[in-house]
Amino acid sequence: MVDVVNINVEKVNQSRIKEVDFDKIVFGKVFSDHMFVADYKNGEWSDLKIQPYSPISLSPACAALHYGQAIFEGMKAYKNENGEVLLFRPYDNAKRINISARRMCMPEIPEEIFIEGLKKLISLDSAWIPSGEDSSLYIRPFMFASEQLLGVRPADEYKFIIFTAPVNSYYSVPVNVKVETEFSRAMEGGVGFAKVAGNYGAALYPAKMGQDKGYQQLVWTDSATHEYIEESGTMNVMFQIGNKLITPNLDLKTTLAGITRDSVLTIAKELEYEVEERRVSVKEIIESAKNGSLKDVFGTGTAATIAQIVSITLKGERFELPPIENRAISNSISKKLMDIKKGRVEDKYGWVLKL
Ligand code: COI
Repeated sequence: MVDVVNINVEKVNQSRIKEVDFDKIVFGKVFSDHMFVADYKNGEWSDLKIQPYSPISLSPACAALHYGQAIFEGMKAYKNENGEVLLFRPYDNAKRINISARRMCMPEIPEEIFIEGLKKLISLDSAWIPSGEDSSLYIRPFMFASEQLLGVRPADEYKFIIFTAPVNSYYSVPVNVKVETEFSRAMEGGVGFAKVAGNYGAALYPAKMGQDKGYQQLVWTDSATHEYIEESGTMNVMFQIGNKLITPNLDLKTTLAGITRDSVLTIAKELEYEVEERRVSVKEIIESAKNGSLKDVFGTGTAATIAQIVSITLKGERFELPPIENRAISNSISKKLMDIKKGRVEDKYGWVLKL
């Protein structure tokens, strides 16, 4: 299959890497030299190329700008101690972008185009992978409807692009969250399970209201009753109550099936923690916070990996959570996950693709 993926490569004349102070990067503000681009037209993907990272020109009638056919993925590349490049679970991102594509009436991206484009791009820009413990190369594959079109229908033309950004930690401050019971992120039958640009745009207003009051993230609840917890901001959310690790299940399709979420649950089981995926009520979290059995709350996502939460405010009551250094479950899982990603321990689940 691989030899059918023909990718034309145009390299930059001069890399920008020397202009970058890697210690001072703000998440998502510095981009590597190249990007991968593929176009979908006449029912097929063609014109696969790697070119210098640069602005792209779009028609004002570009359908994605009007009707929101835009989806994306987030993934990361690391280097191991020998300087070899490691991609974390790229085949899962290749699958998930097509789940999003189907829901949004967009064409699927053949796995070999996704993976070969990614491998070639990351190999070319491997010097941009930072080596700090909390650093990585964040990878942003995305697809949008590029057809000039004002009629409301699925577009016939799309662009798929992958570009990358060296990053340090996502959060620079401890995370305080508020459980949101007025606004909703997703509803049953909607697009909550898909990585759709509009999910993030729609969350900005309630998130900003929370931020203005000192909450770095919201914890979303179900839109029907606001009694059950779904996600935290742009992350999945997990709770340690007593000795159990508990996280909302995905059955209602209102929550993104996070790849970090799955990795954390898998490692938790390997480390012999008791894991429950089920509905998690706001009431249960309030009760466990009050009786002292709520030991840990953390978000999981590609950008943040594991973001430990220092306080949670529910229905106007704020609960401070135990000191981060005492959190055995999230600290041990976080370490193990990073050790796998950086190739320091055996990758028994076959998650890491070495270039
Ligand atoms: C990720 O963790 O990759 C996300 O999707 C969060 C992102 C919106 C920064």
